[in-house]
Amino acid sequence: MSKDTLTITDQRNGKTYEAPIELGTIRAMDLRKIKTSPDDFGVMTYDPAFMNTASCKSNITFIDGDKGILRYRGYDIETLAEHCTYLQVAYLLLYGELPTPQQDKDWTWEITHHTMLHETTKTFIDGFRYDAHPMGILVSTLAALSTVYPEAKNIHDPENRQKQIVRLIAKMATLAAYSYRHRRGHPYVYPDNDLNYTENFMNMLWKMTEPKYMASPVIARALDVLFILHADHEQNCSSTTMRVIGSAQTDPYLSMAGAAAALAGPLHGGANEEVLKMLDEIGSVKNIPNYIKRVKEGEIKLMGFGHRVYKNYDPRARIIKAVADEVFEVTGRNERLDIALELERIALQDDYFVSRKLYPNVDFYSGIIYQAMGFQPDMFTVLFAIPRAAGWLAQWNEMVQDPEQKIARPRQIYTGIDHRQIIAKQEEPAEVKVG
Ligand code: SDX
Repeated sequence: MSKDTLTITDQRNGKTYEAPIELGTIRAMDLRKIKTSPDDFGVMTYDPAFMNTASCKSNITFIDGDKGILRYRGYDIETLAEHCTYLQVAYLLLYGELPTPQQDKDWTWEITHHTMLHETTKTFIDGFRYDAHPMGILVSTLAALSTVYPEAKNIHDPENRQKQIVRLIAKMATLAAYSYRHRRGHPYVYPDNDLNYTENFMNMLWKMTEPKYMASPVIARALDVLFILHADHEQNCSSTTMRVIGSAQTDPYLSMAGAAAALAGPLHGGANEEVLKMLDEIGSVKNIPNYIKRVKEGEIKLMGFGHRVYKNYDPRARIIKAVADEVFEVTGRNERLDIALELERIALQDDYFVSRKLYPNVDFYSGIIYQAMGFQPDMFTVLFAIPRAAGWLAQWNEMVQDPEQKIARPRQIYTGIDHRQIIAKQEEPAEVKVG
């Protein structure tokens, strides 16, 4: 009768061991009993970049990379993008269920009434150079918020966690808008509580001298869908960073500053900005074959393509492509889309990409839409960070309550110099005068 165990034979001494298989994994700590002598530390796993290591159990997001499936709390991303708002999805990620109408009303009221920033935070943002990258402003200001809410350190108090979660989701939009206004030398626009989350974000970005900002419903809905698509993605680099920093019982503001710093990397959330640079470098459809040649020679990567988990089309990229058409109806068609579509068509016929299962990911089309909406490329990752706050906080909240979790502290394989002493400095030999 088959058993859910792994039998391991150590060929160094012929001993065999049984390791239970649970949910398709074995516990790495079970390998430590594999020793060749009593003082042997035991066997560890070696897994650079955690390519094949589960760091936690989670109920939040499920991805099937081969089938191109993404689900938040069991709902397909396509369903959520079609039927929900970003705030409803943020509630789902955090609390496990979509809000009832009353919960939706209360949640929206809570978030709406926490969008204001402490005036000292505005002054802090004023201190940045006029051309400071908005991600540098966001990371720094998130960390600064931990000084405004020192009670956030009480991470074991559920009510306190809830209060900080509401503040962070609400203020992410304000921080992002203020960094945008600072870059453009425009006065900050205070939140307008008559508007929903995304319309208010647009108000804080783009209101000028008109008495009341009126958001384009098409652009507002497109942004809301983009927020839903970017809200969580299980144990990606930035969510893992949020969990690792949070495992030291650091407050959620400082933890999220670290997560946002990870997202800023060009291989992670910074890729959408790199995609725009790539499309501008290509310049026209006729230059695509030569660009692809450089990619295949290993000189450059095709930004917005490939994924650690998806070995099929990223379902978010498919939805974003559809959103692009709706946005361009309002903003006018963008020739970068033509280059991107032709680049995708050519790449998906080329064995280099097919054999490596490289498909467009969430970043391939999002930048084109953001640019058409009027954002500069250096704002794109900030637009990724706003909704990912919900995912980071859901993962952090789950980690804090997980009895199996403790401070993250991996091991290493030491390959350095074994042991040596400091030899007393030899007297410098007296200068020998020649001649
Ligand atoms: C996000 O993890 C998440 O969930 C992230 C994210 C989220 O929502 O949080 O989905 C958001 O970060 C999306 C990814 C955005 N990044 C990019 O678009 C940057 C370009 N993509 C690559 O850098 C790369 O595909 C990664 C980083 C996304 C994934 O890299 P892996 O899993 O480490 O894969 P790899 O680098 O080992 O590549 C395997 C092979 C290599 O070729 P060989 O050495 O076998 O010859 O594929 C090649 C790579 O050179 N390859 C690419 C490529 N991506 C991988 N070749 C050209 N262009 C690319 N984009």
